[in-house]
Amino acid sequence: MDSQGGRLERKNRVIVGAQWGDEGKGKVVDLLSREADIVARFQGGNNAGHTIVVDDNKYILHLIPSGIIHPGKVCLIGNGVVLDPFVFLEELDTLKKVGIDYQDRLFISAATNLIMPYHRALDGLEESGRGKKGIGTTGRGIGPSYQDKVKRTGIRLADLFDEERLTEKIKTHCENKKYMLDQLPADQKVDCASLVAKLIGLQDIFRPMITDASLMLHEATRSGATILFEGAQGAMLDVDLGTYPYCTSSNTTAGGALTGLGIGPSMINEVIGIVKAYTTRVGAGPFPTELHDEIGEKLQKQGAEFGATTGRPRRTGWLDLVQLKHSCRINGIDKIAITKLDVLDCLDEIKVCTAYELDGERIDNTPMDMMRFKDCKPIYKTFAGWDRSTEGVTTYTELPQKAREYVGYICRELNVEMLLLSTGPAREHTVMAPNG
Ligand code: GDP
Ligand code: IMO
Ligand code: MG
Repeated sequence: MDSQGGRLERKNRVIVGAQWGDEGKGKVVDLLSREADIVARFQGGNNAGHTIVVDDNKYILHLIPSGIIHPGKVCLIGNGVVLDPFVFLEELDTLKKVGIDYQDRLFISAATNLIMPYHRALDGLEESGRGKKGIGTTGRGIGPSYQDKVKRTGIRLADLFDEERLTEKIKTHCENKKYMLDQLPADQKVDCASLVAKLIGLQDIFRPMITDASLMLHEATRSGATILFEGAQGAMLDVDLGTYPYCTSSNTTAGGALTGLGIGPSMINEVIGIVKAYTTRVGAGPFPTELHDEIGEKLQKQGAEFGATTGRPRRTGWLDLVQLKHSCRINGIDKIAITKLDVLDCLDEIKVCTAYELDGERIDNTPMDMMRFKDCKPIYKTFAGWDRSTEGVTTYTELPQKAREYVGYICRELNVEMLLLSTGPAREHTVMAPNG
């Protein structure tokens, strides 16, 4: 309701990570799910780890949209996602154990490509083959599954319901990949022979969920439904626009929502970028503002910066406005949600990168050749830290003046509005902007 007692316009929003992932998308999607009827995931796979804290419970979701925590919300997995059916089953089991009912409200596009056990094995083999140039993949089979999709040989969810087609496809894959798979140690061999039977055995689980995602979203829209599009990873991990080749294999940016679900741009009303108040990155690749000192360690400790999927320690560094401006542009970000502001409470001084130095010259944009990202030296503006805790703060006026200056500066520089500010992992640890 607005101040006149009328109903606020319900918007179809896309949620995207504005940095290198783990910005707190799960928390924000959970919060905004209240105002949506459908939560739709459009790309990535179980490389993602989205954490939601409700009361004393912590949920980590990898594949299933974060909206599932809200009873009654419909959740949809789009064709842009790569889905490991066996990991998906584990996630369903976890939901069952914690009493979350997903029956009749969880759907998957028939065109969703599946991650097969051989993809996972190949991910490991390819990564070790890169040696020192390793990407630091999550090892979940994401890259190899997208490779098959682009090669037009992928196994889609629909194939599960055509035994002849499935058998033929799996046979061809296992033959074509044999040379690589033979390199696996004996205890990691992929059992191709039993794979078809295992997949056919999953038909009853997937039958009530398989759908035409595009049609479903269009019909729901005609009936007045509001949709929240949930992205995974972050803009800098986008396969086209991120720090290639140190990125993931999908379009993590807002455009991915269109192709990943079969919708047109007019169905999106607002793009929300999730911005951590500092920067983190898991895995290898350039990170100009990375800290290798005790401040970096402090951020890691205070922010509990350990991967929600792999448990790996996350690299930490200062906020980078050059990177964020790139992210705002490539996503068309309208508003941002700034998360983990409370983590900065522990610092006396806070730095923000405002430009880079490259080849002795100042540059205000990310380099055209993403490989040059590694040579960019940050130029900083320094802010004084604040004198009291922001942890759990729920109103703007309660925030220390210096913290307000910090977030105000970020919004002005990025030329975006603030939707909300997060001051802790829980739902209630949130400052909502008045016109959010
Ligand atoms: P996602 O992948 O973008 O959904 O983010 P992750 O769940 O991987 O990582 C974000 C982590 O930060 C999770 O452990 C969240 O519970 C936590 N978190 C989210 N917002 C806040 C916040 O404002 N303050 C603090 N201290 N933690 C937060
Ligand atoms: P969420 O959704 C952070 C990183 C990996 C690696 C690179 C490629 O939780 O923000 P992949 O397994 O996709 O081939 O790995 O991408 N990566 C993530 N980093 N958060 C994620 O997801 C990530 N998903 C992939 O660490 O550097
Ligand atoms: Mg994560």
